Amino acid sequence: MATCHLQSFWVLFLAVSRYFAHTTSTSHVHIVYLGINQIHDPILTSKFHIQVLSDVFASEEDAKRSILYSYSNSFSGFSAKLNSSQATILASMDKVVSVFRSKTLKLHTTRSWDFLGLTLDEARVTPMEFTNGQDVVVGIFDTGVWPESESFQEKPGMRPIPSSWKGVCVEGEKFEPAKACNRKLIGARYYLKGFEQEYGPLNMSEADILAAFDDALHDGVHVISASFGATPPLSPFFASSADIGSFHAMQLGIAVVFSAGNDGPEPSLVQNVAPWSLCVAASTIDRSFPTEIVLDSNFTIMGQSIISKEIKGRLANAITYFVDGVCSLGNWNRKLATGRVVLCFYTPGLVYEIAQVAVKTAKGLGLIFAEPFTKPIADVDADIPTLHVDINQGTIIGNYLAESLKLPVVQISRSKTIIGKSPAPTVVYFSSRGPSSISPDILKPDITAPGINILAAWPPGTPPTLQPSDDRLVRWNFQSGTSMSCPHVSGVGALLKSVHPGWSPAATRSAIMTTAYTRDASHDSILAGGSMAGSTPFDMGAGHINPLKAMDPGLIYDMKTSDYILFLCNMGYTQERIERIVLPSPGVDTNCKNMHGPNANINYPSISVPNLRSPITIKRTVRNVGCGKKTTVYFGVAKEPNGVEVVIWPRVLIFSPSKQEISYYITLKPLKKSEGRYDFGEIVWSDGFHHVRSPLVVLVNNSNDFTM
Ligand SMILES: *[C@@H]1O[C@H](CO)[C@@H](O)[C@H](O)[C@H]1NC(C)=O
Ligand SMILES: *[C@@H]1O[C@H](CO)[C@@H](O)[C@H](O)[C@H]1NC(C)=O
Ligand SMILES: *[C@@H]1O[C@H](CO)[C@@H](O)[C@H](O)[C@H]1NC(C)=O
Ligand SMILES: *[C@@H]1O[C@H](CO)[C@@H](O)[C@H](O)[C@H]1NC(C)=O
Repeated sequence: MATCHLQSFWVLFLAVSRYFAHTTSTSHVHIVYLGINQIHDPILTSKFHIQVLSDVFASEEDAKRSILYSYSNSFSGFSAKLNSSQATILASMDKVVSVFRSKTLKLHTTRSWDFLGLTLDEARVTPMEFTNGQDVVVGIFDTGVWPESESFQEKPGMRPIPSSWKGVCVEGEKFEPAKACNRKLIGARYYLKGFEQEYGPLNMSEADILAAFDDALHDGVHVISASFGATPPLSPFFASSADIGSFHAMQLGIAVVFSAGNDGPEPSLVQNVAPWSLCVAASTIDRSFPTEIVLDSNFTIMGQSIISKEIKGRLANAITYFVDGVCSLGNWNRKLATGRVVLCFYTPGLVYEIAQVAVKTAKGLGLIFAEPFTKPIADVDADIPTLHVDINQGTIIGNYLAESLKLPVVQISRSKTIIGKSPAPTVVYFSSRGPSSISPDILKPDITAPGINILAAWPPGTPPTLQPSDDRLVRWNFQSGTSMSCPHVSGVGALLKSVHPGWSPAATRSAIMTTAYTRDASHDSILAGGSMAGSTPFDMGAGHINPLKAMDPGLIYDMKTSDYILFLCNMGYTQERIERIVLPSPGVDTNCKNMHGPNANINYPSISVPNLRSPITIKRTVRNVGCGKKTTVYFGVAKEPNGVEVVIWPRVLIFSPSKQEISYYITLKPLKKSEGRYDFGEIVWSDGFHHVRSPLVVLVNNSNDFTM
């Protein structure tokens, strides 16, 4: 983010995933994943990869030609162009954990790009200010960086690059290391081979992502921020570069923060759901852009937009230009709307982007779009200025129009910026929702953070609307999406790393989650965008991030290797596979026969039970990270999900200098016959000062059972 005084390491992808061409060859880029690196010498590991690959090629030369990346720094694997029979043979080998086709991943930024130009008063933007975080290196995986931006200039007094840093600043297109890298932007690499093999020269991909993880882990980053993902259906965990890379990062103590995706508000489309990473939803901040609509000089209605120039014309109803008043190109009756602002209503499928194209084609002056929920996104006004109003306001405007003898004069003033707007935060309608479609017993997303209308550095060579017809040059632009909320959480992760260098990624995640808030600025429950109801944990996970509280969480739910092994066993991985991917450590049992209990027993900071038939008891262990020098007493309170009895025992946890870690149990008992609906509650431990909160999500599924 623009104002983090953090030293950042950027992993560059110079290409976007939107364009892909078809390939005629029957060979495709595959990733062959071999698990932990057993050899500990990158050169010998790469030789070993060629040797493995040679088994499915006529010669070693052919094998060398087909290999793209040898992942040998931080884990073992390679990517290569393979046909289906070669892939099948490799997958059957004992030393191979998984083989999968390299996919093109999607960037988690919405297509609603917003523009305000250079007139914005930067001082009024309220991003998070960090005064801490020195010597923490954040690895950011993105499609590019414009190092000349003020956002990446080192500030006087920034400390030298940490001596633990082993990364480099690689030369790229229009990217000169000597000018680009400094004490803030300390390194950059880019990866294209996987994409080029599959789709031709210079355009991104998964094989490249895994190479980025392999290097980033080796280079010494502390936190990785990754705003991409693959749309569901989700791949098994070890057939996904993001999940493999983040698993190895976690084992090295590096927290990985992913965006949840922008596929909401329908349920079950959340991405990046592994229990070893953090998954971030997006919410609004307390800033809005009210825009006045004045009819006939005497009737005013407020819309939402970013309009930088006053607009004056006549207001007309969509029915004049579109069959049935539905503003789509297919319904246009070829009548021109020159000089007119057109009032269009949402109908199912008619998103405002479609109406914009239609009204623009009809040569309209502007668009007032009435929709069920006013979209909080500040809109592109380059092509056709658009005001968002809700259905009630739209109805009032429509009725005024119907009663007017001639078309009313409409005056739209420049948008204002208002800070302190309520309700805020609200989870944005497009933020991807839980439950996880692959492991609903791990609650995802984990947390929500600001992801709407975020002002960020913008490359001057790229039009703010991404449209070729747009010839403006800007240094800053508004962007929206979970890819904007993800770096906020990575920044907080870096902050926590600098304050608590010894914390594991799970401890960091626990601090972020258990201190999150669930009430908005007016003390009401945080609204879910796209509905008129409060958010559930499927919208926002544990709630909205609270960086200052996260520094002093009181208690921590840490995770041990055995938690991850339990999860992998429950997901069907065999002992042999698990031993290939888990770094060996003394006393760790990898035998699934000795692993008992559902995923709900993993020491996660939230609790999700998606199939409660009869009473179950779940175990959790908390560690006191508050003042350890004196005795601290915590009391547990449960808010019961509807129709579920919750008993916590013991109810009182007494921490002392010699006893900092205590386990407790939660018994859940269904009190109703039900199926197919989730209910929500929470568990809170408090010592009077800290409130350590865990969301509790339960689906009672017993309506087909004979007895209760
Ligand atoms: C795959 O490639 C190998 C080695 O070039 C070749 O022997 C085999 O016939 C190919 N299989 C298919 C299905 O194309
Ligand atoms: C790359 O993108 C260009 C522009 O869209 C397209 O014409 C070309 O086919 C693409 N090829 C690759 C590299 O995907
Ligand atoms: C003000 O609005 C009313 C309708 O509400 C209309 O009759 C009147 O002419 C408008 N006045 C002006 C000055 O346009
Ligand atoms: C509920 O349990 C039944 C088996 O009795 C199972 O088939 C079904 O998938 C479960 N429903 C949910 C939502 O888990």
